[in-house]
Amino acid sequence: MKIISVVGARPNFMKIAPFIRAIQQYNETIIADGISSSGGGAQRVGEVNPKGGDVRRTEGVNHLLVHTGQHYDDRMSKAFFKALNIPDADINLGIGSGSHAEQVGQTMIAFEKVLVAENPDWVVVVGDVNATLACSVTAKKLNIKVCHIEAGLRSRDMTMPEEVNRLVTDRLSDLLLIPDRLSGENLRKEGVPENKIAFVGNIMIDTLETNRENAGNLSLDNIIKDNLIDGQIAPSPLRPFALMTMHRPSNVDTKEILQLLIEFLSNEITEDMFLIWPIHPRTQSRLKEFGLWEDIIKNKKVILLHPVGYHEMLKLNMGAKLILTDSGGLQEESCVLGTPCLTLRWNTERPITLRENGGASVLVGNNVERIRNEYYKTLQLLRSPQRPELWDGKTAKRCVEAIVNFKDE
Ligand code: UD1
Repeated sequence: MKIISVVGARPNFMKIAPFIRAIQQYNETIIADGISSSGGGAQRVGEVNPKGGDVRRTEGVNHLLVHTGQHYDDRMSKAFFKALNIPDADINLGIGSGSHAEQVGQTMIAFEKVLVAENPDWVVVVGDVNATLACSVTAKKLNIKVCHIEAGLRSRDMTMPEEVNRLVTDRLSDLLLIPDRLSGENLRKEGVPENKIAFVGNIMIDTLETNRENAGNLSLDNIIKDNLIDGQIAPSPLRPFALMTMHRPSNVDTKEILQLLIEFLSNEITEDMFLIWPIHPRTQSRLKEFGLWEDIIKNKKVILLHPVGYHEMLKLNMGAKLILTDSGGLQEESCVLGTPCLTLRWNTERPITLRENGGASVLVGNNVERIRNEYYKTLQLLRSPQRPELWDGKTAKRCVEAIVNFKDE
C-alpha cells in the first residue's frame, strides 16, 4: 500500500510526526510477523505470508511525505521537523505565502503532478489548513482515496478559513478519523455513513506524551533568553507569568480590535504578572502596519519572543499561571496539562476543551469587558489536568490500523 501524507503549516507538524512513526512501527511488526510465521526464514515486506493468515497484514506501507511549503521560515517549519524527528519531506512544493486562492490554487497544480507521478492508494491530510483542503480536493479529482485525521471538528463559523477547509475536506474524505465523540455526532448529522468514521483520539496528544519529559527538563529562563526579540530584556524573577499567542485574522487584521486587545493585555494583566508572548509573523506585521509595535516593545512587562519551538512552548505552557490564545492546538494542550485558558474566540471547533465539558478553557472572544471578567475568575483557578477519552498517546497507531483495514463498502 502506498500512502502520501501532507503537511503545510506549523500545526500540521505535531500531527504528522506520530503518524510517520506509527507507519514505521507497523512495517516493523509485519517484518517480525513474517519472520516468526515462516519458521525463521526472513519474509520481505510485500510478500504473501506462505503460512496463510491475513494477506493484507503482509503488505508494508510505502510512505511519502509532501510539504506544501505554506510555512517556510526556519522557526515555523524546519525547527519542528528537527525537534519532532520528522524525516525530511520527500517532496516540497515550495508554495509559500499568498492569498488563500493563490496558496490553494498553486498547491493543487503542484500536488496533482506528484499524484500523477506517484499514484498512491491513499492521501492522508491532517487538520484544517490550506494544504489540507488543496490536497484533498486534488486527490479526489484523481479518484485517489483521502483520509482526514482530525475530522469532524466544527466551529460553525464560516468566516474562519479553517472551517471552510474542514467542511470541504470532510465532505470529500473516504475515511474520517475523529478525535472525540462530539466530532462523530457532527459528521452523522451531515449524513456521513458509519463505515467512513473511526474514533481514534487526538493525535496531537501522542506528540505531547512523547515530548513531555524532555520539555519538562528545559529551563524557562533559557527559553526566554534564547528567543527574545531584539531589544527585549529577560525578566527576573519570571514567575508568575501569563502566556499569550494570537494570530487569527479576526483578532489581528483589524486595527480597532487589535488595539483594544493589546491595551488591556499589556496594561491590566501586567499589573499582576509578566505576559510572555511568542509572536506569530502575521501578528508582528499587523502591529507594525497599524503603528502599535513601538508601544509594545517599550512595555517592560510584555516579553515578546520569536515563534518558539515545540518543546519550548510545552514548557511555557507547563509553567504559566494562565494562557490567553486563539490557537486550537493550545486549547487542547492546555486541557491535558490543566493550564487555565482564556480562548480569544467567540466559538470553538474543539468544545471538548471547554470548562463546561470538563476541559480547561473558556471562550472570551475579543470583547475586553468579557476578557476582564473571565481573567479575574481564572486567576482563582488551580491547574487541573484532564484527559478526554482516547487522548492517550496511542492515536497514531489506531490511525494506521484504520487505514490499512479500511473496507470500501
Ligand atoms: C495558518 C493556518 C492556521 C494555523 C496557522 C498556524 C490556514 C488557512 N491557516 O495561518 O489555521 O492556525 O497557520 O500558524 O491555512 N509567514 C511568515 N513565515 C512563514 C509563514 C508565514 O512570515 O513561515 C507570514 C506571511 O507573511 C503570511 C502570514 O505569515 O502572509 C500568514 O501566513 P499564512 O500561512 O497565510 O497563514 P497563518 O496565519 O500562518
